[in-house]
Amino acid sequence: MFVKILPEEIRRKISAGEVIEGPSDVVKELVENSLDARATFIEVEIIRGGRSLIRVSDNGTGIHRDDIEKVFLEGATSKIGKEEDLLNISTYGFRGEALHAITSVSRTYIRSRYFQDKVGKEIFVEGGTLLRVRDRGMAYGTEVEVRDLFFNVPVRRKFLRKQETERGKILKIIKEYAMANPEIGFRLISEGREILYLKPAGAEERIGDICGYNFEYIEGSRGMMSINAYIARNTDRGELFVFINGRPVANRNIKEFLRKLIGYRACGIFFIDLPLYAVDVNVHPKKREVRIRREREVLSAIREIVNPQEPTFEEQILYQETPSYNTKLFEVLGTIDERIIIAIVDEFLYFFDQHLLSERINYEKLGYEEDEACRTSVKGGQVLSKKALEDLVRGWFDLENKHVCPHGRPIYYRIPIKEIYENLDRPYY
Ligand SMILES: Nc1ncnc2c1ncn2[C@@H]1O[C@H](COP(=O)(O)OP(=O)(O)OP(=O)(O)O)[C@@H](O)[C@H]1O
Ligand SMILES: [Mg+2]
Repeated sequence: MFVKILPEEIRRKISAGEVIEGPSDVVKELVENSLDARATFIEVEIIRGGRSLIRVSDNGTGIHRDDIEKVFLEGATSKIGKEEDLLNISTYGFRGEALHAITSVSRTYIRSRYFQDKVGKEIFVEGGTLLRVRDRGMAYGTEVEVRDLFFNVPVRRKFLRKQETERGKILKIIKEYAMANPEIGFRLISEGREILYLKPAGAEERIGDICGYNFEYIEGSRGMMSINAYIARNTDRGELFVFINGRPVANRNIKEFLRKLIGYRACGIFFIDLPLYAVDVNVHPKKREVRIRREREVLSAIREIVNPQEPTFEEQILYQETPSYNTKLFEVLGTIDERIIIAIVDEFLYFFDQHLLSERINYEKLGYEEDEACRTSVKGGQVLSKKALEDLVRGWFDLENKHVCPHGRPIYYRIPIKEIYENLDRPYY
C-alpha cells in the first residue's frame, strides 16, 4: 500500500549508527511517528523508566492493514521513496529504521486501525521475529507497546541508566516535541500516575505551561530564514531549546552561539525555520543534529534579530576598548601554528596575528609604506623565539592604532579571562 522497503542504494545514503540506546530513544521515535501520522493527541505510558514498558498511543491516520506486517522490517517507510526525497524531508521520520531497531531488541505489539478501516490489526514481534497477527477492535489510530527492552541484549540491559534518569530524559523529550507542536495534546503516565498533561494550546501558552517563566517574544526574518524566539532572562538555571523546522536539535555550535547571545542564566526557546533544501537532516543516526547551509550567515542574522543593538563580530573587534596601559605587563603563553600569539594582558586573553602585528609596528614606527611594511614583516607560519614574540607584544603597547593593520584587518582578538572562568563554572576573583 503505502509502506515500501527502501532500496539498498538509498539505504546506503542514510546516516547509519545506533538508533536505540535506551528507553528515551524509543519514546522519541514513537512520538515522532505519531506526529508524522498527524495525531492530535499522544499518550505515553512508561513503567520503571521505560525498562519494563513503553506504550505510545495516538489518534493519527493509522497504519493500513496491508502494511502493518511490514512496518518493522529494515528500511520500511511510507515517508520517502526516491533518493531526491532525502533533500526535501518534511517529516520527522525518513529512514524506515526506528520500528526495526526497536522490535529487534524487545517484545513489541503494534496495534493500528487505519482511518478508513472498520477494524484494527495487531502484530507481535519478539526480538525481530513476527510471532502473531490478529484483528482487533480499537479506535482509530496506532498504539505501540514495547516490553522488556533489551531482553535479548544483556550487556545493554545491564548498562541502562537509572530509572529516574531515564524518566527525566523521557519527560524532557516529550516537552520538546510538545513545544514544537503546541496544537497537539500530550499525556505522560509513569507507574500508573499521570505526571504530565498538556492540553492543545497556542504556541505561547504551551511554552508557559511547560517552562512557567515570563517570556519575552522575539520574531523576525532575513531572506529565507525566519525565527520565533522566547527568552526569559535571569532565571535561576539557564536552559536552551533549539528547533530547526520543528525538529529539536542539539547542534553544539548553534547552541553555544545562542547561549552566548542570550546569556548563561537565560532560558531561551528558538524556533528557526528554513527552506527544507537548506537543512540536511540526514547527518546523524539519531537525527539529533542537522546541517544548515550557510550556518554562519544564519547565525549572524539571528544575532541581528535577537540583539539588534549589538555590533557585529567585526565591529566588536574594532571597537572593543583598549585601556591605556602605563605598565607593559603581559605574559606570552605561546602561539597557535606559529601564526597567532597567545598572551595574557591585564584581565584578557589576547590572540595577536603575528604578521599583522609586526606589519603595524613597522608601518607606524619605521614609517614604511603599507606594502613595504607587509614585505618586511614577520610572516604567519614563521617560527619566532620567545624573546621575539615578547618584543612584538611589547611593541603593540606603543602603537597609535592598536586595532587594525595598515590594510584594515583586525590585529587581535581578546576574551575576558573572567568569561573563561564563568564558562568553566569556576569563581573568578
Ligand atoms: N504511529 C504511527 N501511525 C501511522 N503510521 C505509522 C506509525 N508508526 C509507524 N508508522 C508507519 O510505519 C513506518 C515505519 O516506521 P519507522 O519509524 O520505522 O520509520 P520512519 O518513521 O518511516 O523512519 P525513521 O526510521 O526515520 O523513523 C512509517 O513510515 C509509517 O508508515
Ligand atoms: Mg519513525
